[in-house]
Amino acid sequence: MFPQLLLLTCVLGAAQTARAAAPLLMPLPVKVETAPGKLAIDGTFGVAATGYSDRRLELALDRFAARVSRQTGIRMLAARPSSGDRATLRVECAGRGAEYPSPADNEWYQLDVTPNGARLKAATVAAALHGLETFAQLVAPGPEGFQVAATRIEDTPRFPWRGLMLDVSRHWMPVEVVERNLDAMAAVKLNVFHWHLSDDQGFRVESRRFPRLQQLGSDGDFYTQADIRHVVAYARDRGIRVVPEFDMPGHTNSWLVGYPELASAPGPYSIGRTWGVYDGAMDPTREETYEFLDAFLGEMTQLFPDPYFHIGGDEVNGKQWSQSSAIQAFAKEHNLEGARGLQAYFNQRIQKLLQRYGKIMVGWDEVLHPDLPADTVVQSWRGQASLAEAASKGFRGILSAGYYLDHLSPARYHYGIDPLADAAQKLTPEEASRILGGEACMWAEYANAETVDSRIWPRAAAIAERLWSPKEAIADVDSMYARMEAVSRVLEWTGVRHRANYGPMLDRLAAGRPAEPLRILADACEAQGLGP
Ligand code: ACM
Repeated sequence: MFPQLLLLTCVLGAAQTARAAAPLLMPLPVKVETAPGKLAIDGTFGVAATGYSDRRLELALDRFAARVSRQTGIRMLAARPSSGDRATLRVECAGRGAEYPSPADNEWYQLDVTPNGARLKAATVAAALHGLETFAQLVAPGPEGFQVAATRIEDTPRFPWRGLMLDVSRHWMPVEVVERNLDAMAAVKLNVFHWHLSDDQGFRVESRRFPRLQQLGSDGDFYTQADIRHVVAYARDRGIRVVPEFDMPGHTNSWLVGYPELASAPGPYSIGRTWGVYDGAMDPTREETYEFLDAFLGEMTQLFPDPYFHIGGDEVNGKQWSQSSAIQAFAKEHNLEGARGLQAYFNQRIQKLLQRYGKIMVGWDEVLHPDLPADTVVQSWRGQASLAEAASKGFRGILSAGYYLDHLSPARYHYGIDPLADAAQKLTPEEASRILGGEACMWAEYANAETVDSRIWPRAAAIAERLWSPKEAIADVDSMYARMEAVSRVLEWTGVRHRANYGPMLDRLAAGRPAEPLRILADACEAQGLGP
């Protein structure tokens, strides 16, 4: 360790600047030691791989060099030296890791910064990406220019599943919105992009097998299959998994416009133009429904290499099912109790199809049922109790209750929610180990491509810290806000527009008059979120 550490503590204590000197990192690493001295970041800065390397790491180093250059405004002539000896930051990666990011990845890294240079040791390429993001957050202006304080960091995540769910159905989010949010996710070490691709208000993926899905269900706003492949590769390069969600059997109005025969009641159907729960639901009793979904899932599972596949399953109101005598007769014949029994039957059938395509099913917590296949992952959104219940019954789970960014709750509310707190405290260690992490959720009823970044950032960074950092590190809300503000500024250099869009939008409202009074009014207003 650093012999200078004790001395530094004394110096800082005397100067009473310990707080200001604490690295403005988010998420907080497992271990941070600071030492005297600093590494200057100037035009001679360069980064190179000195251990295992591949195209993904080389691309990441190129992006990193460009980012540090953007962040500092300094043109770095030696940004990517051909020899590791000449690099300011040497990246020593032990091995590749999985081809696509995976929950089993070893994400451990260690970063040593001294006045003479920096060394990043990482278990895998995915871990190296995390270490680079930590370094980028450490670059700060000082009295003599940009610098990184001498530091030793050792770090590894608390949970393997740290996600952001983005709803692209309620309001369309073009590819560039997804790209820039993936860059921001990587900056705070979020590693799962859960893409909510279909809902009542829009079906957003090109299906070649069933083209009326996007032709009639999207208002023309959908991702082509080339777009999907591009985003999956873009995310992979940044260490992020892509878990697609096709919500079924409810929230399916946009499917039913082109394929009304899937529904449990005659159409015609139209794209949802208002928010809420619609009655339209797939018919779980007809073999034709499963033939369609088999072919559909066969096509879609090819597009998404991640082993997990989300089938939604939330908010099925069961009205069409209770009003159909044929469906009721089927339920009776198969001993299925009410809408929950019918949905459990549907889920079992879908899980079998997904299993054949090599996928593990994920569903919102309504899928929890005694008949749910054991390897299903349950995503808790209606309260933390369902997460503990799922884990105690042998299911793996992820938490989203308390992480709804669209509710406009303050960051401190989200920050206070822990996947292993509440009912989960009573779990045995084995049961608790089934809790894989959590996901921030960005539903898009009240956000569009222009505003969505400002709903996600910077608050998602506080959730990222909750999911990455050791539990003991998470207590001090003042520190969280100070670091979140700093990271919010760094995030801007990733390309996300949570701050950049604010001024022009105020100017638009001001309509040629000075926007400053509007800014003061807007800044003084605080959304009254749904959190406490
Ligand atoms: C949900 O918020 N309906 C999962």
